[in-house]
Amino acid sequence: MADPIEIVRGDITEQAVDAVVNAANSSLLGGGGVDGAIHRRGGPAILAACRELRATTLPDGLPTGQAVATTAGDLPAQWVIHTVGPVWARSEDRTPDLQNAYRSSLRVARELGAATVAFPAVSAGVYGWPLDDAARIAVSTVRAVLSSGVGSVELVRFVLFNDDALSAFRRAA
Ligand code: AR6
Repeated sequence: MADPIEIVRGDITEQAVDAVVNAANSSLLGGGGVDGAIHRRGGPAILAACRELRATTLPDGLPTGQAVATTAGDLPAQWVIHTVGPVWARSEDRTPDLQNAYRSSLRVARELGAATVAFPAVSAGVYGWPLDDAARIAVSTVRAVLSSGVGSVELVRFVLFNDDALSAFRRAA
C-alpha cells in the first residue's frame, strides 16, 4: 500500500486536495502566514463563513487544539479546516495542544468525508514552535491517526514553505 503521508515543498493554497488545513488563530478572522495566504487566495467567502461561525456556534472563538471547517472559496480545495495550534512556550510543554490540533483537524476531515488533506507546519511560524520538534509531533500524530484505519482520509500531504521545514519533516518521517 502507498504511504499515506506525503511531504512536499509548496504553497498550501495551491493544493488540489479535498481539504486544506489553516494554521489560524482563535479569532478565526484572519492573520499572517498561512492564514493570510488562505484568505487572500480563497477570497471573501472564507471570511464570511468564519464571521458566521463567530456569530453562531463560536462566539468566543475557536479554542486552541480544536478545528472547524468552512468553504474553501476560490481555492482548488473543497474545504478549509481551521485549527489553532498552541503558541510555543519555554515554561510549559504544550505538545498535547499541538497533537490535538492535528487530531481535531483529521476528525473534521473524516466528518466531511474528505479523502485527501493538506497540512502546513502548524505552530512553526508566528507561534514559534521549534521546527524539528513541530515536525516530529506532526508526523507521529498523523501517522497514529491514519494507522488506526478509521474514516475516510487516505492521504495526508504536509506542505512546507521552505527548505528548512521540508528537511525537518523529511527527517521526522
Ligand atoms: N503554504 C505553506 N506553508 C506556509 C505558507 C503557505 N502559503 N505561508 C507560511 N507557511 P504560520 P503558526 C509556513 O505563522 O505558527 C497567523 O497570523 C510558515 O513558514 O502561518 O501556527 C495566524 O492568524 C511556517 O513554517 O502559523 C495566527 O495568528 C508554517 O507555515 C498565527 O499566524 C506555519 O506558520 C499562527 O501561527
